[in-house]
Amino acid sequence: MFSKTDVLLFFSLFYLLNANSAKLDIVRQFKILKGYPLDSQLNFTELATEYGYTAEEHVVTTEDGYILTIFRIVRGRNCQGPLRKPPVLLMHGLFMSSDLWMDSGPGAGLAYLISDECYDLWAGNVRGNYYSKRHTNLNPNTIEFWNFTVQEMGRYDVPAMIDYITNYTSSETINYVGYSQGGCIYLVMCSEQQSYCEKVEVAILIAPGSRLTYTKSIPFRVLTDIYEISAPFLIEIGIYQALPWGGIVQQLASFICKDNETADTTCRDVLDKLDSPHPDSIETETIRVLFGHFPAGTSIKSMLWYNQALNVDDFQKFDYGPVINAEVYNSTTPPSYNLSATTNPTVVISGRNDFLSVPPDNEWLVNQLPNVIEHVVVEDPLWNHFDVPWSKLTSKDILPKITDYLYRYSKPGRG
Ligand SMILES: *[C@@H]1O[C@H](CO)[C@@H](O)[C@H](O)[C@H]1NC(C)=O
Ligand SMILES: *[C@@H]1O[C@H](CO)[C@@H](O)[C@H](O)[C@H]1NC(C)=O
Ligand SMILES: *[C@@H]1O[C@H](CO)[C@@H](O)[C@H](O)[C@H]1NC(C)=O
Ligand SMILES: *[C@@H]1O[C@H](CO)[C@@H](O)[C@H](O)[C@H]1NC(C)=O
Ligand SMILES: *[C@@H]1O[C@H](CO)[C@@H](O)[C@H](O)[C@H]1NC(C)=O
Ligand SMILES: *[C@@H]1O[C@H](CO)[C@@H](O)[C@H](O)[C@H]1NC(C)=O
Repeated sequence: MFSKTDVLLFFSLFYLLNANSAKLDIVRQFKILKGYPLDSQLNFTELATEYGYTAEEHVVTTEDGYILTIFRIVRGRNCQGPLRKPPVLLMHGLFMSSDLWMDSGPGAGLAYLISDECYDLWAGNVRGNYYSKRHTNLNPNTIEFWNFTVQEMGRYDVPAMIDYITNYTSSETINYVGYSQGGCIYLVMCSEQQSYCEKVEVAILIAPGSRLTYTKSIPFRVLTDIYEISAPFLIEIGIYQALPWGGIVQQLASFICKDNETADTTCRDVLDKLDSPHPDSIETETIRVLFGHFPAGTSIKSMLWYNQALNVDDFQKFDYGPVINAEVYNSTTPPSYNLSATTNPTVVISGRNDFLSVPPDNEWLVNQLPNVIEHVVVEDPLWNHFDVPWSKLTSKDILPKITDYLYRYSKPGRG
């Protein structure tokens, strides 16, 4: 399938990419010349600019010192009237970054579509992905930096973004749209920092992660098992992150999937096996692009939390084992997250063919939450997990419900 030249090219690019960030732009030009789709090589701001949107970059520092880069599209290209208030914070899932909302282009990417509906759109990035790998005093090559799970993302990252956005826009509240882990960390925030939850007028949780007991994706289960088994060894040799951007998995995926035909066969199969098949939903061009931004990296500790979540019948905190649990939690078993604390209006959107955030777990979640105004089950019976960011059908299948609730929980601004 690939010639010797291809293999050589890949390893030279891989070497160069890891060599020196000053060479990055040259490598990028060369890659585009070699058939990588342009969009796969662009960051959030560049993508927005390419399609006629104006993006801003903002730097947010969390209470525990992590430095996160978040983005804003001030006004959608197709937004005619005044912007509505409050601002909307859109949050990505596991192994992803803000760029996933742009991978499928302006006709389908939710960042574009929501800003086209005249919302002040902010796209977050949690600690550990390629936009958020800095800290005020910890070195990102140390285990202390990578000592986090969804607990810290919900406890520190989301509150810091809410503080920043409300201060910057002089708005008292925001609206929140969280996908997968982006939904999970919202629930963690409400459990751990309820006062922040009250700053959200409506939270729209799409294919949320909480309890993961019935997740059907075998590859995801196997991946977390591999991390569970190999974590002591990896940590011993100084590897603390899982599937980083620029790492061998992302580089190889991006290299292989740049080809139209391979993207449509091998790469599509990988996505179908991680989740489930949905013919005619994700365009081949989107697959060519998305592996330029995915996987975006997280901590190995976070993988261990997922492994735990897949094997218990609960949505609970990290299990350190009975001895350390007793010190950290004053209880030998890890406490459950308090879902009763998500008291503000919540909308859950889920898909029947989603193999990661599956119907029984979503029904369980909806029954635990005290203020679900609607549980929307997407009409299309084949709607799955990866459709949320990448399907060409988002504007028809999920956008109307999202904008319906954003509209109800916002007010016209002054222009
Ligand atoms: C995105 O790309 C632009 C243009 O190359 C660059 O100026 C900017 O620093 C990049 N943003 C981030 C967060 O890397
Ligand atoms: C990681 O964090 C936990 C609790 O937040 C703490 O008990 C532990 O000492 C930390 N470990 C490292 C290596 O920093
Ligand atoms: C709030 O925003 C102003 C300017 O918009 C800035 O000077 C100030 O430092 C911000 N405060 C916080 C706590 O972020
Ligand atoms: C990509 O492949 C599809 C079939 O798999 C084909 O219809 C299309 O024309 C190809 N596009 C390009 C740009 O080669
Ligand atoms: C720890 O738990 C015990 C019993 O469950 C309780 O009596 C005690 O007050 C707790 N200590 C703290 C510091 O919360
Ligand atoms: C959970 O949150 C609710 C609402 O804030 C509160 O009333 C309840 O006491 C909390 N439960 C626990 C176990 O902390």
